[in-house]
Amino acid sequence: MTLLALEDVACHFTTPAGVVRAVDGITLKIDPGETLALVGESGCGKSTLAWLILGLHPLTRGRISFKGQDISRLRGRGAKGFRARVQAVFQDPYSSLNPRLKVRTILAEPLLAHGAARRGVAAKINRALSLVGLPEMSADLYPHEFSGGQRQRIAIARALILEPDLVVLDEPISALDVSIRAQMLNLLQDLQGELGLAYLLIAHDLALVEHAARRVAVMYLGEIVEDGRTEALFDRPQHPYTQALLAAVPRPDPAHPRATGQIHGEVATALAPPSGCRFHPRCPKCMDVCTKTAPETTIVATEHQARCHLLDSRHVPGTRRGTIVG
Ligand SMILES: Nc1ncnc2c1ncn2[C@@H]1O[C@H](COP(=O)(O)OP(=O)(O)O)[C@@H](O)[C@H]1O
Ligand SMILES: [Mg+2]
Repeated sequence: MTLLALEDVACHFTTPAGVVRAVDGITLKIDPGETLALVGESGCGKSTLAWLILGLHPLTRGRISFKGQDISRLRGRGAKGFRARVQAVFQDPYSSLNPRLKVRTILAEPLLAHGAARRGVAAKINRALSLVGLPEMSADLYPHEFSGGQRQRIAIARALILEPDLVVLDEPISALDVSIRAQMLNLLQDLQGELGLAYLLIAHDLALVEHAARRVAVMYLGEIVEDGRTEALFDRPQHPYTQALLAAVPRPDPAHPRATGQIHGEVATALAPPSGCRFHPRCPKCMDVCTKTAPETTIVATEHQARCHLLDSRHVPGTRRGTIVG
């Protein structure tokens, strides 16, 4: 059974400057035990989507269901039960841990809030610390006594302590020192194997997710422009935005040469998204239709789809579908 399903999910913020369409019609699903990566530039709505899944923002439109149950309608015990099943690790381990609390209290909080018996708490804290590779004595220290990487391990321990089914990882390594990023990703993968967790792994560059995710969804200005199995998306990217993101990933593998794609300019703002295809002002393959009409989703292969007019054969006589010619 599908673990998490989003159907046409939107979140618009009303601000003094106007309506920000941070998330604008997203459909995706995550199966038990799998990693879906969500990739896109800063400001495209990734964290807003994470907050929607965690129930921290109201939905403007659409539906989110967990194990088949509509979570936006859950109240009281049902809502609390769901919140225990879905946990999160955020980007900055410095601001996500309360500096005034010892690690023991930080880890006990979710257990006690969800009605765990006090007797079992110490053992659960020790197990969570050992899972993330920290010694038991860490429980008696404060967050500032740890390095950034160790703090992120504490944040992961806190996310795991209620034995969730899904962990939303919102750029979990981008604030960490480059030298420890790989080891943190490995830890997350080991934990996934050991505990059968599903991950939504949010990242702003594709390089990070190639070996960590089974499927990848590429996000641009509140929408998913392409999603597919990781290998298919890396080998046969269909959307010019995916192609451009991939061109920025160094990959010294002659068997898989990169398509070259140039994108210019800054990501537009979700306050006034461009007409037609939202990517058109930056797209090296922009056609007349792209400025006027939003593209439909085209299924290009099993579990691989993209939203681009290039995939609509009526508009590309004689060219290979979706390929950027350097
Ligand atoms: N609470 C909010 N109120 C108004 N605008 C917001 C709010 N949260 C996020 N935004 C805007 O929504 C867009 C998406 O932001 P965010 O989800 O943080 O993107 P990302 O995580 O991909 O960098 C941005 O334009 C951001 O300024
Ligand atoms: Mg973010």
